[in-house]
Amino acid sequence: MAMSESAATADAIDNPRGLPITTGTEVFPPDNVEGYKAFKAGDFSFRRDAYFAHITWPGGRHEMPIDVFLRALMRDVAWGFFYGTVNFDHIFGTTNYYGEVEMFAGACNHAYTKAGRDFIQRFKSDELMDVFSQMVSDWTNADYDPFAAPMETGTPWGSKNGDNDAAVTRQRVTAKRMIGLPGDTPVRTDESGFTVNRHFTDVDQSQPDVYPEPGFEHEVSAYNLFGYLSRSDVTWNPSVCSVIKDSLFCPTTEEFTLPVEHGNDRCEWFIQLSDEIIWDVKDGKSGDPRATVTMRAGDVSCMPADIRHQGFSNKRSMLLVWENGSPKIPEMVRNGTAPVVAVEF
Ligand SMILES: [Fe+2]
Repeated sequence: MAMSESAATADAIDNPRGLPITTGTEVFPPDNVEGYKAFKAGDFSFRRDAYFAHITWPGGRHEMPIDVFLRALMRDVAWGFFYGTVNFDHIFGTTNYYGEVEMFAGACNHAYTKAGRDFIQRFKSDELMDVFSQMVSDWTNADYDPFAAPMETGTPWGSKNGDNDAAVTRQRVTAKRMIGLPGDTPVRTDESGFTVNRHFTDVDQSQPDVYPEPGFEHEVSAYNLFGYLSRSDVTWNPSVCSVIKDSLFCPTTEEFTLPVEHGNDRCEWFIQLSDEIIWDVKDGKSGDPRATVTMRAGDVSCMPADIRHQGFSNKRSMLLVWENGSPKIPEMVRNGTAPVVAVEF
């Protein structure tokens, strides 16, 4: 992500817990039971079997159904640890410091922190990303695509059976200025392999007519965003489609559940472009319930900077996520110079 690069080089990396960098990763050969590799990063160990991911750390262990784990791991990898915290579930996750990253068990769970049982280690982002990338590659079988809606892919269960690296190495779209501008990310077409999704066959596919004055062909442009989104082959993957300074429009299509509980480190605007998403909103630190928000086409909401959220979309829907990509914001939120809510009525 452009943001992590700029944040990593521009200023000292934010480290509110004052944690040292943990080094040391290991990849173990496939076991002779189900045939999957095991992994170690710092004091966290990972293995999978037919149904589950098993995570252990000094003094604790956690199991997750492998489909839930792989969908979450896929987003963490593809998003470069994303903004703020990626909670794989109520126990395990990562928090991005843009160049460095914390991996935790129980750090965003009130019962764990109250009992002093939370465990956190901090890594160079590249080093942890290398382990996570190998893990999602080895643990994903040939028939399974962790980016896809469950009704559009096979299952992840059972013994090691091939791989699907074409799916798990997809690059997240990050337009430099805007989709469709000369030299930028292209619009999607049948010819480029992006067919219209089964739930969006009614979406108009025509493109706007644009007549820039000679000399302005690189400055004046337009494209059919609904048509573009109707051709998305993945779910829950906010992709940068237009950029003005730190203002990033990240539309995405959604079906089934957001595979992570995203813990914001800044305010984040949602504009529901079609259909419906129900959002489960919890406190970012403790996980205590805060709100349930039903968003239908045309609804706008702002997720506060101190929450985590998970969405549920019963059919493919279109969501515009609007991010302020400035690397300064997380620290400003913490020291009170940037607001936790973006608007007050
Ligand atoms: Fe979020």
